Amino acid sequence: MKKPRVINVVGARPNFVKVAPLVQEMRLRGIEQVLVHTGQHYDENMSGKFFEDFDLQAQEYLGVGSGTHAEQTARIMLAFEPVLLKYRPDWLVVVGDVNSTLACTLVASKLDVRVCHVEAGLRSYDRSMPEEINRVVTDALSQLLCTPSRDATENLLKEGIAPDRIRFVGNIMIDTLYRLLPRAKNSTVVRDLELEERRFCVATIHRASNVDDRDVLARLLDALRTISTYCLCVLPLHPRTRTRIDNFGLDTSGLRVVEPLGYLDFICLVSKARLVITDSGGLQEETSVLGIPCLTVRDNTERPITIWEGTNQLVGTDTACIVAAARKVLDEALPRPAKIEKWDGRTAERVVDALLDFD
Ligand code: UD1
Repeated sequence: MKKPRVINVVGARPNFVKVAPLVQEMRLRGIEQVLVHTGQHYDENMSGKFFEDFDLQAQEYLGVGSGTHAEQTARIMLAFEPVLLKYRPDWLVVVGDVNSTLACTLVASKLDVRVCHVEAGLRSYDRSMPEEINRVVTDALSQLLCTPSRDATENLLKEGIAPDRIRFVGNIMIDTLYRLLPRAKNSTVVRDLELEERRFCVATIHRASNVDDRDVLARLLDALRTISTYCLCVLPLHPRTRTRIDNFGLDTSGLRVVEPLGYLDFICLVSKARLVITDSGGLQEETSVLGIPCLTVRDNTERPITIWEGTNQLVGTDTACIVAAARKVLDEALPRPAKIEKWDGRTAERVVDALLDFD
């Protein structure tokens, strides 16, 4: 059987974590592949460190940078089209739900290149989230949809997607977690920040709905400040959140604000934390597998399995609710690490099997 030629696309921070095991698996199986980095994230902290941690090299860098959603999506499309024409791959593999995922899927679909979406089928059913629009459109246009959980497969079937386009492969982020956890344990980040294991909380906030509105962001920071009086909150600050805090003139006193961390340091920090408070998608999954309680400061999640089977709780954005939930969790014993079906470190193998078997 002739092996397919593949383009893998990355753009933003969570993509790097998801594509690393795919690139490695394709290399192992002798599949010709090209890694394209759109440059949606471009800082050393948001991108460079991750390429080092994962030993990734992009063959094509599009350098699109920031902008409004329309600007960013359009710039990626314009820059990606000639790259796709240059390589003419059999498959485009996209991951997750960022603007790069959507933009490259649109380009490939119009040029009749088949698209495989890894992490297909997640739905928050909240179209005010830009990521939800990206997920719905990417899934509608992809030929091969690789889902992380059975509920994601069900979502696709409800949307009328043919069952023979869907493969339940498991969670690709967890492949990276299992592979790099032993190395992450060697990180000195906890000592460097003068923290004590299980005596601190890790918080991350960057979702547009949480940081672009002054009142919401102020409520979240108030909650973190109160929680910090009994369990210090470490806040690795996303550039978007930093800009908003500065522009709104908000106060982060009482919190330990640090730069965004690389993957190994971040996973080490989370694995030694007592609690995580976040609006990230991937962190709801990683904390479940690590057995660290997670309070998600959103009203919905596209990853409900982390609530049903993991360590995650939705707590919204009201200061008193977040503080009450944190107090309760801090009084309880640590939960057991979750064992979720096919979150076993072998998802990349199943994705590549699906690509090779597809006709
Ligand atoms: C993007 C994704 C989001 C993902 C997140 C992870 C979309 C719609 N959103 O959100 O799903 O969870 O990445 O981080 O694709 N900036 C920098 N340096 C960088 C990158 C961004 O300073 O390397 C700043 C820019 O001012 C930019 C802002 O951060 O305007 C937001 O970046 P952008 O890529 O537009 O979206 P994120 O909020 O990071």
